[in-house]
Amino acid sequence: MKMFLSGLALALLTGNAIAATDGPVLIKFSHVVADDTPKGQGALLFKKLVEERLGEQVRVEVHANSSLYGDANELQALLNNDVQLLAPSLSKFSQYTPKLQVFDLPFLFDDLDAVNRFQKRAKGRQLLSAMEKRNITGLAYWHNGMKQLSATQPLQSPAAAKGLAFRIQSSPVLESQFQILGAKAVKLPFADTLPALRSGTVQGTENSWSNLYSQQYAPVQPYMVESNHGVLDYMLVSNSKFWSSLPYSVRIELDAIIDEVTYAVNNAAEAQNREAREQLAASGKVNLITLSAQERDAWRKAMQPVWKQFEGEIGADIVHAAEQVNRRSN
Ligand code: LMR
Repeated sequence: MKMFLSGLALALLTGNAIAATDGPVLIKFSHVVADDTPKGQGALLFKKLVEERLGEQVRVEVHANSSLYGDANELQALLNNDVQLLAPSLSKFSQYTPKLQVFDLPFLFDDLDAVNRFQKRAKGRQLLSAMEKRNITGLAYWHNGMKQLSATQPLQSPAAAKGLAFRIQSSPVLESQFQILGAKAVKLPFADTLPALRSGTVQGTENSWSNLYSQQYAPVQPYMVESNHGVLDYMLVSNSKFWSSLPYSVRIELDAIIDEVTYAVNNAAEAQNREAREQLAASGKVNLITLSAQERDAWRKAMQPVWKQFEGEIGADIVHAAEQVNRRSN
């Protein structure tokens, strides 16, 4: 017979007051994107599987679209245990570890397969625990996809970005990536991006196809460049104290569910982005610009100098390990 573990019993078992409530443990999963995106779908699948398999012990609430917490406060909310699961983009952790900035280096990964290989290898896996000392446990990497550029004008070459203001996620690497082009980089929470594009405070941005499409940027970003210049992926994280306060049997089951959801998210992400790209192309609202090999090389040459700037703080070993994964023979 399965033992019913109330939050109170949990607290007694673990001596940890963090889960001390009556009834099932509540996991609030907050995120900033729409439901019909790789992360949105992942959060909903996690809830479904937990309800099916751990229904009496764990309850999951999913709060999408920054409806509970947004970029400005979600990590602090996790540390306060006001929310128990998040999946911020890897660009949003620089305050907690410099190492994850490796994912922001422009043109480091050839494609999502290369990113996947890096995340599965030793160095990539080690980064999941890079924030343990800060009470943040990395549980899995979730894909979204490669980033594309968008703007109010065509960005066929890096020179065209000069003087424009780009919304960026709060990442020093991304800030340098645009500054090096002579552009302005404006850090804004995801939820504030569409209003800023609409008002003209910023004229461009970068994101995956699924975010560019689901956030309905098209009317204010009529030019989108298939640049694939960087990656937008996530780390599923929990509050370390909360996570370790869960009884072993519950945690094992949650880990198994997370593996299953991660597999599903990471298998579906590329197709979801492809579909979003097709919808944008078919909408008639966007000029979709593809780059010749020569043009893409010009973007690479313009952005890549930021690697040197950040290699020291990220760790040369991590950057080199990431570079290795582009070799298909590996
Ligand atoms: C962004 O802020 O652009 C993204 O990190 C949003 C997300 O979570 O995909």
